[in-house]
Amino acid sequence: MLEPIKIKEDLFYVGVNDRTKELFENLWPLPKGVSYNSYVLKDEKTVLFDTVDICYSDVFLQKLETALDGKPLDYVIINHMEPDHSGSLGLLRSRYPNVEIVGNKRTADMVQGFYGITDRVKVIADGEELSLGKHKLVFYLTPMVHWPETMMTYDTTDKILFSGDAFGTFGTIDGGITDAQLHPERYYDEMIRYYSNVVGKFGSPVQAALRKLANLDIKYICSTHGPTWTLPDQIQKVVSIYDKLSKYEGDEGVVIAYGSMYGHTEQMAETVAYELAQQGIREVILHNVSKRSHSYILRDIFKYRGLIVGSPTYNNKLYPEVEYLLSKIESRDMKNRYFGYFGSFTWAGAAVKRLAQFAEDVKFEVIGEPVEVKQSMTHDNYKQCLQLGKAMADRLKQDR
Ligand code: FEO
Repeated sequence: MLEPIKIKEDLFYVGVNDRTKELFENLWPLPKGVSYNSYVLKDEKTVLFDTVDICYSDVFLQKLETALDGKPLDYVIINHMEPDHSGSLGLLRSRYPNVEIVGNKRTADMVQGFYGITDRVKVIADGEELSLGKHKLVFYLTPMVHWPETMMTYDTTDKILFSGDAFGTFGTIDGGITDAQLHPERYYDEMIRYYSNVVGKFGSPVQAALRKLANLDIKYICSTHGPTWTLPDQIQKVVSIYDKLSKYEGDEGVVIAYGSMYGHTEQMAETVAYELAQQGIREVILHNVSKRSHSYILRDIFKYRGLIVGSPTYNNKLYPEVEYLLSKIESRDMKNRYFGYFGSFTWAGAAVKRLAQFAEDVKFEVIGEPVEVKQSMTHDNYKQCLQLGKAMADRLKQDR
């Protein structure tokens, strides 16, 4: 649709849905697409909040022009410079040569680096205000949510937080724009996946941002991805999701992520899972690392406190896809996980040793005894897998 969508008096949605791209950041699957949200606030001065991916600049600029309805564009506020949001900035400046680009010192550096723009860039500081007429904006610098220049802008008049990536989700917004017009439950898992894949490393900066925003009265959250949050219970919900994820707090449940070439390691995973269920753990999620995109495995690792990893030995190392997953967990500074592990080999075992090293490196609490199988599972190995499952269940149940 080429027309802007009115969210409330003065506020218009001029973002776009991307139903084409396969991988976000060329890494993370987009089976339900993604939206790049952009908003126009019309007052004595007009403001655009962020732009969209360059692939959608034409549709975006048409919407913007209609939303402005003949008024000039005074400011574009850049809450985040990643090109899924700043991509159309160069074209915007060509179309609106007088528009002033508003960002912080780090934004200005990136505006120059990415788009070669140095003129009419207004550099603001943390806490600085900008009056538009009726509306007064305040800028909150929130570095590393998700890049160093990221900031949020708060409209003190209508209590709207323009939050950048924060509280955003994968998935297009279909028909409705706000949570009141959609089924918001559809987006929670995609919010967790977005967070764990894209922002997951930055738990401490997210906590710092949440503390900074804690006393704001927020009636609307306009994120750069996914629905606009307007319902009080939904605003509370998405803030609590972010709080929990950034503290690395997981729910009761276990992710069993395993690699398996011919099914022997998979049988160990099945046995551990069986015992977890026998012991009353209802959330048990098995992921074959070769088949399931790591995007979803990371999402579930962020959701649940228990993690059990299994791997065959391959070229005297860990199975490559398991090693790759471990590097993704490690690079997100994952914390507070109960960790179990098992592995297999045919003539010389290396997988279990490497998993032990991983547990030490990331400082996870190791649960139970690791199980190592030579060639195929014996009855004793079967019992060891049951014991591993029981040990994990017992540890989780201590937290009830
Ligand atoms: Fe949606 Fe960090 O970009």
